[in-house]
Amino acid sequence: MKYMILQGLVAAALAVAFTRHFDGDKAFRVKPQDEGQVELVKYLSSMVQLDFWRPDSAHTIVPQTDVDFRVEADQIKTIQTLLEQNGMQYEILFQNVQEGIEKQFDGKPNSSNRRYSYSKYNKWEKIVAWTANIAAKYPKLVSRIQIGTTTEERPMYLLKVGKQRSAKNAIFIDCGIHAREWISPAFCQWFVKEATKTYGKDKLMTKLLNSLTFYILPVLNIDGYVWTWTADRMWRKNRSNSSNTNCIGTDLNRNFDVQWCSIGSSNKACSEVYCGPAAESEKETKAVANFIRNNIQSIKAYLSFHSYSQMLLYPYSYTYELAPTHEELNDVAKAAVGALSSLYRTNYTYGPAASTIYPTSGSSADWAYDKGIKYSFTFELRDRGKYGFLLPEYLIKSTCKETMLAVKNISSYILRYVS
Ligand SMILES: *[C@@H]1O[C@H](CO)[C@@H](O)[C@H](O)[C@H]1NC(C)=O
Ligand SMILES: *[C@@H]1O[C@H](CO)[C@@H](O)[C@H](O)[C@H]1NC(C)=O
Ligand SMILES: *[C@@H]1O[C@H](CO)[C@@H](O)[C@H](O)[C@H]1NC(C)=O
Ligand SMILES: *[C@@H]1O[C@H](CO)[C@@H](O)[C@H](O)[C@H]1NC(C)=O
Ligand SMILES: *[C@@H]1O[C@H](CO)[C@@H](O)[C@H](O)[C@H]1NC(C)=O
Ligand SMILES: [Zn+2]
Repeated sequence: MKYMILQGLVAAALAVAFTRHFDGDKAFRVKPQDEGQVELVKYLSSMVQLDFWRPDSAHTIVPQTDVDFRVEADQIKTIQTLLEQNGMQYEILFQNVQEGIEKQFDGKPNSSNRRYSYSKYNKWEKIVAWTANIAAKYPKLVSRIQIGTTTEERPMYLLKVGKQRSAKNAIFIDCGIHAREWISPAFCQWFVKEATKTYGKDKLMTKLLNSLTFYILPVLNIDGYVWTWTADRMWRKNRSNSSNTNCIGTDLNRNFDVQWCSIGSSNKACSEVYCGPAAESEKETKAVANFIRNNIQSIKAYLSFHSYSQMLLYPYSYTYELAPTHEELNDVAKAAVGALSSLYRTNYTYGPAASTIYPTSGSSADWAYDKGIKYSFTFELRDRGKYGFLLPEYLIKSTCKETMLAVKNISSYILRYVS
């Protein structure tokens, strides 16, 4: 008995010790004016561990573009001194990152009725229960399919949403490929809620669901997402150990089999943009790629949700060359962004990923496009850095509502194109 109590205490102590705190960490924004200043930021990142928020690694910093990064408390003096000595201006986005983490949870406390809340960030345990419940509640509209398991053996569930029993024309949507981008899974949940609540009421939604099938993967990188709740809110990669270093995780959005591990990714396991030991080495990447390959005849569009930046991107990421269907992709993106901004005037930019955000290889959207899915888009949801990955819950609803307009706009284009 004594032993059990002691064991319990040790476990509790470990759990606390392992939850990472960010007290006193700050987030900085700099805008390198020229190549010299770009080199300076890269140099700083070689001296001090910087957590790049945007772009997602030092590799892709270019002049005249904002660079956001988190600096640990004990390194702040060093960074500030070096920036000042080199005449580089900076802005502080977060005075205390830990405070930002705590302040995200500002949504209304859950009411006594145990209804699922779509305007709060939900833990994985809740989301996985929700996938079962919503499929049970709307059996004619929603079904749940397991497409694989993660490294840590969690089942990967996909929700199939639509009236067609066997999908003729489908749109694949994934959220949460990068663990810390919490607004992304919140959007996938919102989409399913809207589909189920407004089918038969909203004309456009009814039309879409009568003819199209939506495959929704609410969280792609489940292990990473769980890790952001239990241990490290700033986690990005998955949780696999594929090297003999102390570094864990592959960037799943560098792990797809398209120009794998070339531009904008790293073959070093400690990098935040580590491409993994091989293309599709990760179980999560493999599960998604297999599902899409097996359904390639019906999947007409691929939409992937990230944050933050307020952008709608289309291929390519791996080259600055324009995609063969660039003109059409640009038109579709323009219309979608127009629809999105009609609600709250949220300012989105759009364009080919490499030149609009930064070049990367091994991304899911390029892979889908080169597999023949002509309509392949990546959303970078709100905001532009005020809260970054720590978007407060009170902004979930408006973010999801405007994003729905863009997704419905793209979907109706697809419907017109396929029928
Ligand atoms: C919300 O619900 C969770 C359980 O799902 C509970 O632990 C928590 O205390 C509740 N919060 C409030 C403010 O009621
Ligand atoms: C994570 O990445 C490693 C490679 O670093 C891979 O072997 C593993 O299967 C992945 N695990 C998960 C859960 O994604
Ligand atoms: C990953 O595995 C290697 C060899 O199997 C081991 O040496 C290393 O310590 C592990 N890393 C972590 C962080 O567990
Ligand atoms: C898509 O949005 C554009 C505005 O950007 C609008 O003109 C067009 O009608 C919308 N399409 C649909 C089907 O809603
Ligand atoms: C929208 O964003 C672009 C790119 O950041 C900027 O140039 C433009 O001025 C913004 N427009 C508005 C209305 O804020
Ligand atoms: Zn991302």
